[in-house]
Amino acid sequence: MIKILAFETSCDDTSVSIIDENYQVYVNLISSQVKHEDFGGVVPELASRLHLKNIMQLTFAALEKAGMSFDDIDAMAVSVNPGLIGSLLVGVSFTKALAYSLNKPLIAINHMLGHIYANKIENPELEPPYLALVISGGHTELVYFASNANFEIIGKTRDDAAGEAFDKVAKLLGLGYPGGPIVDKIARKGDPNFADFPRALNRKDNFDFSFSGFKTAVRNYLEKHSQEFIQKHLADITASVQQAIVDSLVKKTINYARKHGINKIIVAGGVSANSLLRKQMQQQTQKIGAQVYFPALQYCMDNAAMIGAAALEKYHSKEFADLTLNAFSTKGIRFL
Ligand code: KG4
Ligand code: ZN
Repeated sequence: MIKILAFETSCDDTSVSIIDENYQVYVNLISSQVKHEDFGGVVPELASRLHLKNIMQLTFAALEKAGMSFDDIDAMAVSVNPGLIGSLLVGVSFTKALAYSLNKPLIAINHMLGHIYANKIENPELEPPYLALVISGGHTELVYFASNANFEIIGKTRDDAAGEAFDKVAKLLGLGYPGGPIVDKIARKGDPNFADFPRALNRKDNFDFSFSGFKTAVRNYLEKHSQEFIQKHLADITASVQQAIVDSLVKKTINYARKHGINKIIVAGGVSANSLLRKQMQQQTQKIGAQVYFPALQYCMDNAAMIGAAALEKYHSKEFADLTLNAFSTKGIRFL
């Protein structure tokens, strides 16, 4: 049974996982860097230093938890881009050193493809063609995969990413970081029709996203109302915010799927954990006779298991990286 030891350090989570060729996850440790909360966002230099501090310990802890040694591992995988360059470099340098010293193959993974492959952990049979809605803190992309080796970007954000929109609005409301899970929780008790925030680029044949005008509208709304009003209606305001973001994501995905007769849709990236998005996507896909897939909740946010899952195909086709491998921060989904 092939086993991959995988590493993820692209942003503020250090993660180490071991996964086998049947997509069984033996261990998926994530060390979240809560220190950034004080700053309302990720501080890149702090993130790199914490990865450096954590990665070795986390690797030995992962092996111990899985009851394995390096001898049981067939290859090492690491996310190489996109992300914070200092953070990526910690993972890439560490994995290269490990692969070289243990004389095992090294596999380079694009972090966004990793998010997509997180879906395989729950559904190993899942294969293209499918439409993927990839929504994270830095990306919002609608991508059509004709096959595993062939994709086309249908639409992407012109400014902020969906996760970023959640995070920025949460910051305006003084709710902490990351904002998505906090808004998701508070919004459950609120009225999504309480405030009417704009849905940008609303034409049926437009598949790009935009969230900066929405963010400004929320800021203007908050400036117009007293702190007392905002606190009293916090659940209603967050519910309206969430509804506006989810509406854009669901409508564009469904419009494209309907227009092109696509019957398989997958959602990936941190925002795929959102409870309203899951509910509405289920309802809308059912209406057009399509099937929607989400990663299990523990594999929505950044984690190394998804990097290992993406590495399996490359292992089988022997697409190994050599020691000249470097990290780079260029955005978007790509084959490496
Ligand atoms: O994929 P991810 O873990 O990291 C990046 O690659 O960016 O995504 C993080 C993003 C953050 O913006 C966070 O607020 C958002 O995912 N997020 C959510 C939820 N959980 C995480 N957004 C909305 N609802 C959630 N439940
Ligand atoms: Zn991510």
